[in-house]
Amino acid sequence: MDNISGFSRTHYCGDVRDGDIGKTVSVCGWVARRRDLGQLLFIDLRDRTGLIQLAFDEGTAREIFDKAAQLRSEFVVAATGTLRERSSKNPDLPTGCVELEVTQLRILARSETPPFEIASAREVNDALRLKYRYLDLRREEMQRTLALRHRVSKLARDYFDENGFLEIETPMLTKSTPEGARDYLVPSRIHPGAFYALPQSPQQYKQLLMLSGFDRYFQIVRCFRDEDLRADRQPEFTQIDLEMSFVDVDDVIAVNEGFLARLFRETLGVELELPISRMTYSEAMSRYGSDKPDLRFGLELCDVTDILPETRAIKSPRAPRKTLDKLSDFSKGIGGRGIVLHTAKFVTDEQRAAIESRLGGVSEEECIMLLRDAPPQLGLVRVELAKTLGIIPKDVYKPVWITEFPMFEFSEEENRYVAMHHPFTAPMDEDAHLLETDKLRCRAKAYDIVINGCEAGGGSIRINTPELQEAMFRALGLSNEDVALRFNHLITAFKYGAPPHGGLAYGLDRLVMLLAGAESIRDVIAFPKVQNASELMTQCPDEVEEKQLAELGIKTIAGDKNDFSRQ
Ligand code: AMO
Repeated sequence: MDNISGFSRTHYCGDVRDGDIGKTVSVCGWVARRRDLGQLLFIDLRDRTGLIQLAFDEGTAREIFDKAAQLRSEFVVAATGTLRERSSKNPDLPTGCVELEVTQLRILARSETPPFEIASAREVNDALRLKYRYLDLRREEMQRTLALRHRVSKLARDYFDENGFLEIETPMLTKSTPEGARDYLVPSRIHPGAFYALPQSPQQYKQLLMLSGFDRYFQIVRCFRDEDLRADRQPEFTQIDLEMSFVDVDDVIAVNEGFLARLFRETLGVELELPISRMTYSEAMSRYGSDKPDLRFGLELCDVTDILPETRAIKSPRAPRKTLDKLSDFSKGIGGRGIVLHTAKFVTDEQRAAIESRLGGVSEEECIMLLRDAPPQLGLVRVELAKTLGIIPKDVYKPVWITEFPMFEFSEEENRYVAMHHPFTAPMDEDAHLLETDKLRCRAKAYDIVINGCEAGGGSIRINTPELQEAMFRALGLSNEDVALRFNHLITAFKYGAPPHGGLAYGLDRLVMLLAGAESIRDVIAFPKVQNASELMTQCPDEVEEKQLAELGIKTIAGDKNDFSRQ
């Protein structure tokens, strides 16, 4: 094996151009492809910028040619030579007109045959790719996506810095804060039987920083939530988290519109139309059956409950019977009640006429679908319909602020009211009196930023008096003892002059997913977890030594220790 000493890279592989022809060029990287034509040998060398063709032919010194003949996929190589014009050009590659006539070659590391070919890893099953994630990350798409992720973080730091925000770190070992999900707990060795919680978000700390007078805070921060995974959820994820003092809803929204406009302009060259439109929660639910409406297409829901009980109608381009059946099955599959057309079989002539006129008539190319679902099924069926019809435009971005969320929702699981955003959110001034008397009608100063049907971020104006915070905890059914035990620090702090404040947190992974056009946030995280929250490469979570448990005063009672199937 050769070593790197004395070698000095002049170019990244993807950066050489026609203008460099005739120059001495030194590159290094991985063997992406090897073509052996007997007297001629070509190697595509890859680094994070792209590919360059290394050429070995009758003009190459014997010793170099023999060394090149040993090269196999994913060997690590350093090469120096003269850049020359290629005889057969590849118009699909930025470096496709040139090749390196190699005069010095070093093999820096060998590679076993990889479990999949890097260039076609996209077609390989997810489990294998994630087991060898470090190889999967060699893919051009992954390199591009993680570079984009870096740019998004940098843009956020620059923008919030320029707007007077200070980045302040908050603890990772914290007291449990309720944000709606389960906590990841960390046992304490020094306090046997006591646990830290990893933060679901820095919510309380950032509020306390406002109380301390920092005025504007932000942080790019890892958060942890033990919840069921979906395409847009990971157990650990990153927020761009911010908080501002002496503000109301419009101030928070204005600063964030500036950020979003800059983000889309500088990453995609897309100009977002400002101000971003706003829609109340109740309007979103009635028109789109969802609090995260995708506004890239129409297919609005129309309430026809006065004509047919419990029914919403959608006017859609006419779809074949099969499409409708599939959609109906989709609705039933997610706990809905299916879909029918407004034909004589299901409605009377009068009902049909009334529905048609409510929807402004129906042409030959259109049909009216009747749904007896409720949110969230209604909203999911609407999106599925748009997907099936293929009417969702690509490269279009439709952000919308959803405002005036309800303060509370009733949790069947816990059999009590829970905060829809979190318990630190302030009620709307005109609804504050409903906190005790009519919880479900009480609206919050909370807002989400939804882009193309994805909740990219959410926030609120906060409660900043001890009295209101205590009333809120009472409304959530917490006893005085519970409050004293869990939130004493906050209630006490509010007694020492808490400014009015509010903020927001973006899901950084989700923003990058949107900008990259990725299907899942897994694709924008270097080392993600899979559905069952394990990481396939290092195989965690994993058992620990008895000694470690003993030090922590912990005994496990879990049945089969290897019970989590690693998919
Ligand atoms: P919220 O819980 O709405 O608010 O979270 C803010 C944003 O974080 C992203 N997000 C996630 N991304 C990936 N995986 C997850 N499991 C996950 N959970 C949330 C979403 C979401 O909009 N403290 C408040 C913010 C505030 O009030 O300022 C909070 O955390 O994009």
